[in-house]
Amino acid sequence: MWATSPAIAAFMLSAYTVAEFCSTTCTSAEVPTGTPIAGDYDGYLRPQVHFSPPRGFMNDPNGLHRSDDGTWHLYYQYNPTDTVAGNQHWGHATSPDLYSWTNQPIALYPVNASSFIFTGSAVTDPNNTSGFFPDQQDGVVAIYTIATYEPIELQTQAIAYSRDGGYTFTPYDNNPVLDAGSSNFRDPKVVWYEDHWVMVVAFSQEFVMAIYTSPDLKSWTHASNFTQYGLLGLQYECPNLVEIPIDGEEGQSTWMMFVSINPGAPLGGSTSWYTLGDFDGYTFTPHANDIHFPDWSKDAYAAQFFYNTPGEAVLVNWASNWQYTNAVPTGPKEEWRSSMGQARRISIKQDPRLGAIAASEPYDMSPVVDEELASDTFGNGSLVIDFADVYSNAVLIEMNVTNLEVLAGSVNYTFLSPISGEYLTGGVLFNGNNDIWQDRSHIKGFEHPLFTGKLSTAQIIDDTFTMQVVFDRTLIETYIQDGLQASTSTFFPEEPLTILSVKAGGYGASNTTTSVRVRSLKSVWRPQEDDAGIVSGGYAKNMTSGHNSQRYSAGWQ
Ligand SMILES: *[C@@H]1O[C@H](CO)[C@@H](O)[C@H](O)[C@H]1NC(C)=O
Ligand SMILES: *[C@@H]1O[C@H](CO)[C@@H](O)[C@H](O)[C@H]1NC(C)=O
Ligand SMILES: *[C@@H]1O[C@H](CO)[C@@H](O)[C@H](O)[C@H]1NC(C)=O
Ligand SMILES: *[C@@H]1O[C@H](CO)[C@@H](O)[C@H](O)[C@H]1NC(C)=O
Ligand SMILES: *[C@@H]1O[C@H](CO)[C@@H](O)[C@H](O)[C@H]1NC(C)=O
Ligand SMILES: *[C@@H]1O[C@H](CO)[C@@H](O)[C@H](O)[C@H]1NC(C)=O
Ligand SMILES: *[C@@H]1O[C@H](CO)[C@@H](O)[C@H](O)[C@H]1NC(C)=O
Ligand SMILES: *[C@@H]1O[C@H](CO)[C@@H](O)[C@H](O)[C@H]1NC(C)=O
Ligand SMILES: *[C@@H]1O[C@H](CO)[C@@H](O)[C@H](O)[C@H]1NC(C)=O
Repeated sequence: MWATSPAIAAFMLSAYTVAEFCSTTCTSAEVPTGTPIAGDYDGYLRPQVHFSPPRGFMNDPNGLHRSDDGTWHLYYQYNPTDTVAGNQHWGHATSPDLYSWTNQPIALYPVNASSFIFTGSAVTDPNNTSGFFPDQQDGVVAIYTIATYEPIELQTQAIAYSRDGGYTFTPYDNNPVLDAGSSNFRDPKVVWYEDHWVMVVAFSQEFVMAIYTSPDLKSWTHASNFTQYGLLGLQYECPNLVEIPIDGEEGQSTWMMFVSINPGAPLGGSTSWYTLGDFDGYTFTPHANDIHFPDWSKDAYAAQFFYNTPGEAVLVNWASNWQYTNAVPTGPKEEWRSSMGQARRISIKQDPRLGAIAASEPYDMSPVVDEELASDTFGNGSLVIDFADVYSNAVLIEMNVTNLEVLAGSVNYTFLSPISGEYLTGGVLFNGNNDIWQDRSHIKGFEHPLFTGKLSTAQIIDDTFTMQVVFDRTLIETYIQDGLQASTSTFFPEEPLTILSVKAGGYGASNTTTSVRVRSLKSVWRPQEDDAGIVSGGYAKNMTSGHNSQRYSAGWQ
């Protein structure tokens, strides 16, 4: 199941040791320009309320931003020619609500046949600070890493501008805009700070998050290094330096340094951590010598925050782990790999033990929440639902457990396939530390030595416990205590899981009450399918005119 070629194995060991990888797989494959790639989205492994690429392989979210007209732009690390990592481009999709995505043409292509376009970010430039936008307020600039492996291995930062609201980009003539002579220097994330641009970018293997400033996105000056902090793992990647609103305190915020590491996660492979602090436009200073994990499972990596979301902070994770991402099942007919996690609103809340931490809540789900399938309130009791006729095979469970005066009892959820007998289960044990757990080891569609089956965390609570569970074919996300903890796990069943039970009990003679509601979720892909079941994507702008990306695909056509 996970036999890999030596080249792919090398890639998996060090995600960006590209030379070996490319010599075997980066052939001159056909990569379409100016038109979205079509995809089959109805296979039983395809998430229905999450984004996944039409075909090919996806990893990190890139260039996340919201246009002033409200459109959310998601770009992503994309290999359009294979279902494993490599041949990196920027795929693109747009959404009015962060659930329903329209596939757009590939936005950024490699410069030549010995380079890749790696992770980066995007900003809107309403004041024309860059000078690229003589007569418009909706200019977009993408800032990204060019990774070259011939004549030498080098990673530099480059920019490209879009005059049509982020659909097509023209690389800047004087790229790169930042070259430190390093072969491990990547993933620039740019924000505006009062009167200048700020970039945070990783010297990955030196464990440095470097901060640069710029008046115009073209010339960058080193401001400070934030270095050797927290959990190093074997590489720092995808740093974000962003302002996070404080829940319940209008207009108040704090800064966050958010870092992804790979490999070296405590649970294995890739993970992310953050620390809160102050930022004066040049230097980040943490409040305490601490880090926190925003996700307690294994499949949330390379998160990026959206740019231009005044008053809120919104991120998207790549819902996978480099330990096994190139080996997971793709489905019988679809030829795609990897999904994005659900967009999350991040805000600072108070944890009873830890104090200020960043809470993760699902972004407003009203666009996809459908019918109530069941709801009930009980002490000892259970709820069983057969949701085989829910087309999306996706549901939302919400539960509140109240009057938890006694350290006893538990609540569990189980998703079962009546055909194969496989099941995914999890829950909470009210024992003071309140162990929260999940077990995907009884799912039969994927075996891998690093695909951890049992996962857990713990959460101090008062007398009330809340949990939301978003279940979507091959992805399950949990949100605990209004987002004080969150998780993202993939699972790959042989048959769809269509029976849900929620069970509470063991509370002894207490007054503990569990109230549960289960609702179905709408498929965001089905309305886009044509008669043959294919989603073709959109042409949001006039792709036949202006400067499309044709010339940057040289070497791949
Ligand atoms: C490919 O493009 C990169 C970035 O401009 C450049 O450094 C490199 O020399 C080019 N490689 C070749 C073989 O032309
Ligand atoms: C744009 O200009 C306004 C007015 O000078 C300023 O307040 C704002 O910070 C600037 N924003 C950006 C992104 O350039
Ligand atoms: C934008 O910048 C360019 C280059 O500096 C300049 O030619 C143009 O007039 C500017 N446009 C506006 C509206 O400021
Ligand atoms: C910042 O870190 C980079 C990468 O390690 C290093 O080359 C540079 O000298 C550092 N700058 C300062 C001012 O410490
Ligand atoms: C749960 O069941 C136990 C044992 O049957 C009983 O003592 C207890 O009162 C029940 N608790 C609730 C909350 O119904
Ligand atoms: C939930 O599952 C755990 C672990 O299997 C078990 O110990 C507990 O009794 C279960 N709780 C209920 C209410 O079934
Ligand atoms: C349950 O509620 C009753 C009535 O309010 C109260 O007398 C009793 O002490 C409560 N039991 C526990 C274990 O808190
Ligand atoms: C849980 O409590 C919240 C806040 O009181 C409420 O809005 C929600 O409807 C409750 N959910 C259930 C399933 O009882
Ligand atoms: C698209 O561009 C072509 C070529 O410039 C032009 O003829 C056509 O009118 C444009 N269509 C729209 C809808 O703008």
